[in-house]
Amino acid sequence: MEDSDLERLFENGIIVDSSLKDKEIGDVDELISSLKKKNISILDAKTLYDIFREKKRLESLDTEAITDYKGEITQSKPQDWIAFFNARYEQLKSILIDRADPKLLISAAGFMSVPDGSDVEIIGMVSNISISPVKKYQIIDIEDPTGQCRIISRSVNDEILKDQVLLFKGRKIKEAIFLDDVTFPDIKLRNDKVLNIGDTYVAFISDVHVGSSLFAEEQFKRFISWLKGEVGEYKDIAEKMRFLVINGDLVDGIGIYPGQEKELKIKDIRSQYDALYSLLAEIPKNIKIIITQGNHDATRIAEPQPHIDPMFGGSLYLLDNAVFLSNPSLLNLKVDGSKRTLLLYHGFSISYFVNNINKFNSMRPEDILSIMRLMLKSRHLAPVHGSAQVVPLRKDYLVIEDTPDIFATGHVHKAAISKYKDTIILNSSCWQFQTSYQKKYGIVPEVAKVPIVNLRDKSYFVLDFLGPKIQEYKGGSQ
Ligand SMILES: [Fe+2]
Ligand SMILES: [Fe+2]
Repeated sequence: MEDSDLERLFENGIIVDSSLKDKEIGDVDELISSLKKKNISILDAKTLYDIFREKKRLESLDTEAITDYKGEITQSKPQDWIAFFNARYEQLKSILIDRADPKLLISAAGFMSVPDGSDVEIIGMVSNISISPVKKYQIIDIEDPTGQCRIISRSVNDEILKDQVLLFKGRKIKEAIFLDDVTFPDIKLRNDKVLNIGDTYVAFISDVHVGSSLFAEEQFKRFISWLKGEVGEYKDIAEKMRFLVINGDLVDGIGIYPGQEKELKIKDIRSQYDALYSLLAEIPKNIKIIITQGNHDATRIAEPQPHIDPMFGGSLYLLDNAVFLSNPSLLNLKVDGSKRTLLLYHGFSISYFVNNINKFNSMRPEDILSIMRLMLKSRHLAPVHGSAQVVPLRKDYLVIEDTPDIFATGHVHKAAISKYKDTIILNSSCWQFQTSYQKKYGIVPEVAKVPIVNLRDKSYFVLDFLGPKIQEYKGGSQ
C-alpha cells in the first residue's frame, strides 16, 4: 500500500490495520466508496478480503458455497430450542416424505383414532430408546410436532439413536406401533459419471496445529514443497492439484486443554496464525485453498462455527487464493463447466460416537468410517443432541441436506478413506505428533497422511509425507 493511499483512507476517516501495510489494495477511491457504502471505518484483512471476493464473485469462480453459515444468532432461550428442533424435524421430514406412503402416513395426534390392526407410517424424532426386560423388544418413543407415540420392535437396531428423525412403518396394536420396517433419510446414489475434464486433484488436510511444540513442521514443509513441484515423487499429481481443503484445527490455540501451555511453541494465537500464513503463502496461487475451522481455532466452539475471527486469524485473509467457509459447510468445486460437491465437517461429534456407542468403542479407521456412514444415513452430522455443542438457530446447519460427492472430516487425527454409495468418505489425519493428553487416553495419531481425490473419476489414494520419501499410504482403511 502506498503512503498516499494510506493518507487518502485516513482523510476519509478510515483506519487501516497494520497487517495491510504491504498489501496491494487496487484502486483506492473504489475501495473508499465500497467501505463508505458499508459504513466501515476500520479496514482490516477480513474486510479487504470480503470486498475483493465480492468483486470476484461476478466472475466465474472455481468454488461455489452452497451452505455457508454467516453468523446469525438467537438468544438460546427455551423457545429458540423448540424452534430449532422443529426446524430439524421439518428439514429431515422433507427428505423422508418422498419415501412414505401418503395413504398410510399419520401424525402422533391422529394415532389414537386409527383402528386397531391398521398398517400405518409415521415420521418421528426419537425421544427415548429402551429394551423391554422380558422379551428384549426395542421400545422406541418418538415425537412429532403434534404429540408422542410408541414404537415396538421385535429386534434391536443399534443404528437407531436418540434425536434421529426416521420413518417408521408398522401395524397399530393397542397403544403402540409394532415395527415392520424403519427407513433412514439416508443419502441417494449420485449415478456417478466420469467428468469430461482432465485429471484434477483435491487434497484434504486438517489438524495442522501450528503453534504446538509437537507440530510436524518438517513434514508440513515437505508437503508444501511437493505442492510447489519441488519433489520428484508423485510430481505428476502435484502438477494437477487444483484444490487444497484445510478442515479445521489450523492452529493449536490457547487454553484448549489443561496443561496445553507446556506443549506450545508459540504462546500467542495471532502469532500462531501468522506462522501458518507464512507456510500457506508458499503454496502456488493456482491451487485454491479452502479453509474451515475446528475446536482449536479462534472462533466460538458451538456449531455451526462461523469463519475464523479476523482479530486473531486476520493474516489468513491476506491469502489471495483462499476461500473461507463455516464448519460445517457444503460447496461445489468447479472445473471447466463441471462440478463436484463437497461436505466439510471438522468432526467434533465423532468422539461422542466412540465414547458412547459400544460397537464404536475404538478410534480405528474402520470405526471412523462406520460413524461417517451412519451420519450420512441419518442425514445429520451430530444426530444425538449433545454430541456436539450447537447454537439453536432457525435452521439446523448440521442436517445433511444434499448428497455430496465427497464427505470429509478431521478432528480425530487418523487417516481413513472409503466409499459409501457413490460418496467418498475420508478423514484427513493431522500434522501433530502425540500430545500428553492423547498419551493419557491411549490415542496414537497418524501424522502427515494426505487423502487425495481425482475430481474427474473420483478415484482416491493417500500419500504419506512422514518420512523423507513420499509414498502411497496403505494404512488406515481403504
Ligand atoms: Fe485436532
Ligand atoms: Fe479438533
